[in-house]
Amino acid sequence: MKNALTKTIVGAAVLVGLGFATSAMAHEKGDFVIRGGITNVAPNDDSSNILAGGADLGLGITVDSNAQLGLNFAYFLSDNVNVEVLAATPFTHDVNFGASDPLGTGDALGEVTHLPPSVTANYYFADASSAFQPYVGAGLNFTIFFDEEFTSANRAAGLSDLELDSSFGLTAQVGADYIIDDQWHVNASLRWIDIDTEASFKVGEADGAVNDIQIDPIVFTVSVGYTF
Ligand code: NI
Repeated sequence: MKNALTKTIVGAAVLVGLGFATSAMAHEKGDFVIRGGITNVAPNDDSSNILAGGADLGLGITVDSNAQLGLNFAYFLSDNVNVEVLAATPFTHDVNFGASDPLGTGDALGEVTHLPPSVTANYYFADASSAFQPYVGAGLNFTIFFDEEFTSANRAAGLSDLELDSSFGLTAQVGADYIIDDQWHVNASLRWIDIDTEASFKVGEADGAVNDIQIDPIVFTVSVGYTF
């Protein structure tokens, strides 16, 4: 009798423990997650030289970092796999010559704004006994540039009509959720995006170009997530 009671208590404890573990500690098939936080885009940039009126200026361009409000949405197709859409408010990056201020304007060369929506499939290791839920993912990115412009000092020096082509490329990430309860978790992710573009512009009446700009940023996001 005593033995049976012990077994019952232990059994109940195990069931409660499992119930707690599966409902509180891991995502489940059908979960829909929304996360909001801060996303920093740090270019790991490299470019070919600036061509102006057919001449090679012998220097490229660089692209600075920018942080914005990051949003993402994820739907769990199974307990281990979700599909995630990364969105954000537009990122605006200063663009500079690859050498210090060759025109002597004392100003950045220009700035570009972009949106880098990405769709990623993520695999969760989904250890139900842990609040820490790491995952790896890979997917596709589309980056569209807009509001490309030279700074006024460089416009005065004769530069105009800056345009950057859209980019379509791969993205990969590692991340983790830390589960607080059935609804809330905190998330951190580190993502690489292959963003390659080319720029065209005018120098007076002549055409200018930078034919190969590799932005290839590391994108770090810290966010709070809610599960529906
Ligand atoms: Ni690239």
